Amino acid sequence: MKQLGMRTRAIHAGEVIDKDTGAASPNIIPSSTFVLTPEYVEMGFEADAETLGANMPYLYARWGNPTATQLETRIASLENGGAALTFSTGMAAATGLLLHKLRAGDHLVISDVSYVGVAEFVRNNLPRMGVQVTPVDTSHGDEVVAAIKPNTRLIYVETPANPILKLTDIRRMADIAHAHGAQLAVDSTFATPMATRPLELGADFVVHALTKYFCGHGDALGGAVIGTRDEILALRADSGVHLGASLSPFNAWLIMRGIDTLPLRMIAHEQNAFTVARFLERHPVVTRVMYPGLESHPQHNLALRQMANMSGMLTFQTANPKAMARKFAASLEVFHYAVSLGHQRSLLVLLGTDDVNNQSFKLDPEHLARYRTFAGEGVFRVSIGLEDAEDLCADLDRVLRS
Ligand SMILES: Cc1ncc(COP(=O)(O)O)c(C=O)c1O
Repeated sequence: MKQLGMRTRAIHAGEVIDKDTGAASPNIIPSSTFVLTPEYVEMGFEADAETLGANMPYLYARWGNPTATQLETRIASLENGGAALTFSTGMAAATGLLLHKLRAGDHLVISDVSYVGVAEFVRNNLPRMGVQVTPVDTSHGDEVVAAIKPNTRLIYVETPANPILKLTDIRRMADIAHAHGAQLAVDSTFATPMATRPLELGADFVVHALTKYFCGHGDALGGAVIGTRDEILALRADSGVHLGASLSPFNAWLIMRGIDTLPLRMIAHEQNAFTVARFLERHPVVTRVMYPGLESHPQHNLALRQMANMSGMLTFQTANPKAMARKFAASLEVFHYAVSLGHQRSLLVLLGTDDVNNQSFKLDPEHLARYRTFAGEGVFRVSIGLEDAEDLCADLDRVLRS
């Protein structure tokens, strides 16, 4: 599939035509167990994913199921990775990778702007297990170098970062990680492979909340980690089997159906986001707009280098954000005032700087000041959907002026 284009791969990579019926749409195979052959009896239960690799027959759905396999092949193809492992949520993918890679005595360097769920987990849970954690402003490479210790095993970054759309230079992070014997994992949920393929820039792992753009329709949770074949086999045998956060076959099918149109949707998300971002930049009530595609984004040049598509995520700021949030929640007609992102429906929510900071890394004054350069007292995080851009602008305008 490597020589085929992304639209073709998004539709065909991993597809298995049903042998009995010729059904072209992927089968949803809900079986939790699989009938074993006499050959498997010979091999015994020691013959697990780690020893048999891709030749491992289906055994029990926590080890893998045929619908998830089709999805995993497709995601690995889109990210140009050797293999992918799916999980029941994006959080499970992130925690599955962190728990697999880190043990007591290891050190993790992580973006000081990370999705709050991940931030809470690394701040609260990993230190309880003897893992040292240093949150760092990963947009400053020298701060990352300074944070590295002899026991640093992993650098974990999110770009663009949720919620403030701060970017990290993936190639630079990969060079730093590898120069110090560590690995790099990139949560690329906001970017999608249509914008950025971190493995091609030197990352060792890509993490996705499939819940977002991959699914694209707001109706299934899912997560994935992509890496080399060997790394993903080891991850499957460890976190896949023992965390037990397996993706259901039905959600795998929904997400696969979503991926069919991912390349087209990302073009439309970007187009709409540009229109709304430019509209908001001119709006008298809006004090700041942050969108990687706009020249006003402080890292616009990095965005141009690293993102082939600017995605559909933007933020904006207004005076009295809490009062404005109440108005949005009460009066928006097209947008939904709701968390999450990457859906066909446009979503908007206020994320106050103090709230996010208290939930995540409790930054020191200097780093909090840097956060505020992107976010002020708080941002309206907007996931621009696939509606008509004029309707989105009109919906926002009506409430902003009320
Ligand atoms: C960047 C990022 N990573 C991970 C997650 C977690 O994904 P999930 O909600 O599927 O657990 C989210 C959720 O918002 C996210 O935005």
